[in-house]
Formats: sequence, C-alpha cells, structure tokens
Amino acid sequence: MEQETSRPLGLQMCPFSPMLEAGLQDLFEVVRWDLLDADAQIAFLRERGGSVRAVATGGHIGCSTELMEALPALGIIAINGVGVDKVDLAEAARRGVAVTNTPDVLTADVADLAVGLTIDLLRGIAQSDRFVRDGRWPGGDRPLARRVSGCRFGIVGLGRIGRATAERLAVFGPVHYTGRSPKDAPYTFEPDLLALARWADVLVLTCPANAQTYRIIDADVLDAIGPGSFLVNVARGSVIDEAALLTAIAQGRIAGAALDVFESEPHVPEAAILSDKLVLTPHIASATAECRKAMADIVLGNLQAHLAGQPLLTPVN
Ligand code: GLV
Repeated sequence: MEQETSRPLGLQMCPFSPMLEAGLQDLFEVVRWDLLDADAQIAFLRERGGSVRAVATGGHIGCSTELMEALPALGIIAINGVGVDKVDLAEAARRGVAVTNTPDVLTADVADLAVGLTIDLLRGIAQSDRFVRDGRWPGGDRPLARRVSGCRFGIVGLGRIGRATAERLAVFGPVHYTGRSPKDAPYTFEPDLLALARWADVLVLTCPANAQTYRIIDADVLDAIGPGSFLVNVARGSVIDEAALLTAIAQGRIAGAALDVFESEPHVPEAAILSDKLVLTPHIASATAECRKAMADIVLGNLQAHLAGQPLLTPVN
C-alpha cells in the first residue's frame, strides 16, 4: 500500500502491449489520458497536472506542446516508436523535458513489412485471399498480376529503415534513393524526387515526418509515378497528400498503393476502403511480439533511468 502511494504519476497516451502496460504500472501510478474525455482531462490537469513526472506515448501520438505546458513537473516523454514528429523537440528541450524513442529494434520489422506490402501490392495476395474465401475461384481465375523480380525500386529516405528496406529489395531489382544528401551506400542517389518517381516501378516511403517531408507525395509526384507504377508507405500518413492520392488512384494515374499509415489514423477514408487498387494495413510495421518486447524494454529502461537520475538509454534531444 505504501508503495502504491509513493509511485510517481505518469500519463499513458494510448494503448500499449500488455508487457509495456504492466511495466508502466510497476513504475508509475498510471493515468490513461486517452480514456479521459475532454472535461475529465481538464479536471485532471487542474487537480494533478502539477504531479505528472512522465508521459509514455506512441510515435504517431506524441505529446502536444499544450499538454507539456500543463505539466510543470514533466521530466520525460518516452516514445514507444521511432518517430518523433508529434513532439516539439526544441520546446521540450527548452522546458528541460527529455525525449526518448526506440530506434534500431524496429528497423528490421518495418523493412520486412515494406517488402511484404510491395509483394502483396504487385501480386495481389490479400485480394486473392478474399477471392478464395468469397467462393469466387470456381467462376474463373484472377487477373494476371505484376512480376516483382526485376522491378526498379525507389526509396525515399535512406535512414536506418530505408537502408534495411533497400537491402531486402535489392534482391529483387535495382534500388535508387533520394533524401537530403547522398549516403555511403551501394545504391544510386537521385537528388530529384520527381526523377526518382519517374524511374521507379515501386516508390517506397521510409522517410521521417517533418516540415520538409510534409505531403511531399503530391499530385506532381503521383503523376511522375505514373499509371504503370506503385507507391508503398511505411513512414507517416502526413508524407502523402492523401486526397491527391485517392484522386490519382480513382483516375488510374498510378497503378496502386500499399499504406500502413494514414493522415487521420485509425480513421481510413471510405474511398480508400472501397478501392481494390490499395492494400491497407493498420499501422502494423513494428507490431511483432519480438519487436514490441524490445521496444517495451527500451521505453521502460528510459523511464527507470530517468527516475533514478541515470543517463537515458536512447535520448533524442
Ligand atoms: C511508429 O510509427 C514509430 O514511430 O515507430
């Protein structure tokens, strides 16, 4: 009981794996911010906002500057993910709030999914599954698909995930990439995104979300991809102008797209759900038991270190 009352107060911003939630409960008196309605959030901040020492959050959820402001004792924002786009890092630093994420441990899983989505998109695996289950096979075969081997792959953002994706896709065909600068990598650097989009059969987005990458996949890039080529997104929804993509898909200006991330996830536009030119997954790139265990260990390790005044495992700022 004594331990109950002595645990510091922590905010949990979204659901996590059971192992991470259990670990958070061991360290903190946890309040589930996402389960409070707007009035309850205001009341909580008024009564207890001054006692919150830590925020645990997802990469796509982050922690708003407004919330940081309402938590004067906040010392750490621990992100269960690699993306830091939903936290103003400069503002956190100004307030003395540490920010941590979970790099490296999810790289392989995200790259694996990028390859899986690419193969599904070109070969129609998910659609074929629905075809069989719906009993449509006896009525005839599926239309022919597109060969993956021999395709040209364009990677947008050759960071850790982009590089791991390139390594995997290079087994199938040539890889070129774009980004802010050329990297020490055995792939051709293409400084111009439009040129890369024109060259590639499959354009794969693995870049971080930030002001420079906001909606870089716009109508012009979609037209550069063209009616015979494809788009895969395992980065963030905000990297694509989603309305422009849905228009391009509906008008047949690109062949198809596979999306693991969306602008307003978990809400996916009706037009996307209805289109058979799209492969849709619910932000599962890092969602393997192995990866989520490793991520949970890092989140909890960072929080423990913070509470003990020790150096953080994976500080961002
Ligand atoms: C997931 O979206 C992450 O940021 O790792």
